Amino acid sequence: MTLPSPMSSAPRFAGQTALVTGAGGGIGGAIVARLKAEGACVVATDLRLEPGQTTADHVITGDLMDPAFTDGLPRAVADLTGRMDILCNNAGIIARGQITQASDEDLRRSLAINVEAPFRLCRSAIPIMAAQGGGAIVNTASCWGLQPGPDHPIYVMTKAALASLTQCLGRDHAPQGIRVNAVCPNEVNTAMLRSGFEIRGLDAEEGITALNQSVPLGRIAEPEDIADVVAFLASDDARYMVGALLEVNGGKPVG
Ligand SMILES: NC(=O)c1ccc[n+]([C@@H]2O[C@H](COP(=O)([O-])OP(=O)(O)OC[C@H]3O[C@@H](n4cnc5c(N)ncnc54)[C@H](O)[C@@H]3O)[C@@H](O)[C@H]2O)c1
Repeated sequence: MTLPSPMSSAPRFAGQTALVTGAGGGIGGAIVARLKAEGACVVATDLRLEPGQTTADHVITGDLMDPAFTDGLPRAVADLTGRMDILCNNAGIIARGQITQASDEDLRRSLAINVEAPFRLCRSAIPIMAAQGGGAIVNTASCWGLQPGPDHPIYVMTKAALASLTQCLGRDHAPQGIRVNAVCPNEVNTAMLRSGFEIRGLDAEEGITALNQSVPLGRIAEPEDIADVVAFLASDDARYMVGALLEVNGGKPVG
């Protein structure tokens, strides 16, 4: 087989189409920008996203809790751009609090957005990718899906489910040339993280400064730190990686 030359200057994603969910959020926006900068045609999806708010080539808005919308998204992307090479299952929500504080709605929404939507998107995208000869799926799980953090049982179990789905699909679809992997961040400086401080009536900047000191590398992640690893997993540089759950944590384990 011919391995890609390390001296090759071609953009890593030239000629490929990527679908990124949660593209209006912190990590999603950075994934869109990174894939686009490296030559991908990027389709961004989120609940609401104005074309001016994203660097993506195309925007498809919709609710990932709607099964018909989610089931149809990979086909819509293929019809729109002619291809469907990379799926980034990045959208997610966090339900906070112990199990006794959790509502049915917290459970229902978290399962639908964090687990069922990636399931549906993978199920629809895989046959399209297989017919094209392969593809790459990168799920945004979490360190907390590998090792539970305190007081977030719903979030932790949904991310554990996504990690497990990654391993299952990685194994099942490698023979079709489809690589399924996950990035597992610890704390990332986005609206999701900041909302945790705001809910507790704390100043987000002060909270992040304190959190920075708990990370061996000296700071929590910025969205671009995660997007770069997503791009790696989506690219041919990760051609021998399947079912991997890649922790991106600045040296900070879940405590
Ligand atoms: N921020 C962190 O510390 C952190 C750590 C580990 C993992 N993650 C994961 O990273 C991913 C991205 O999170 P983020 O930090 O960028 O958060 P974010 O809140 O900035 O972005 C999440 C995006 O998902 C979208 N979304 C939510 N519900 C949706 C729905 N029903 N339909 C369509 N889109 C919907 C939101 O509109 C938002 O734009 C999530 O899966 C999250 O669990 C985040």
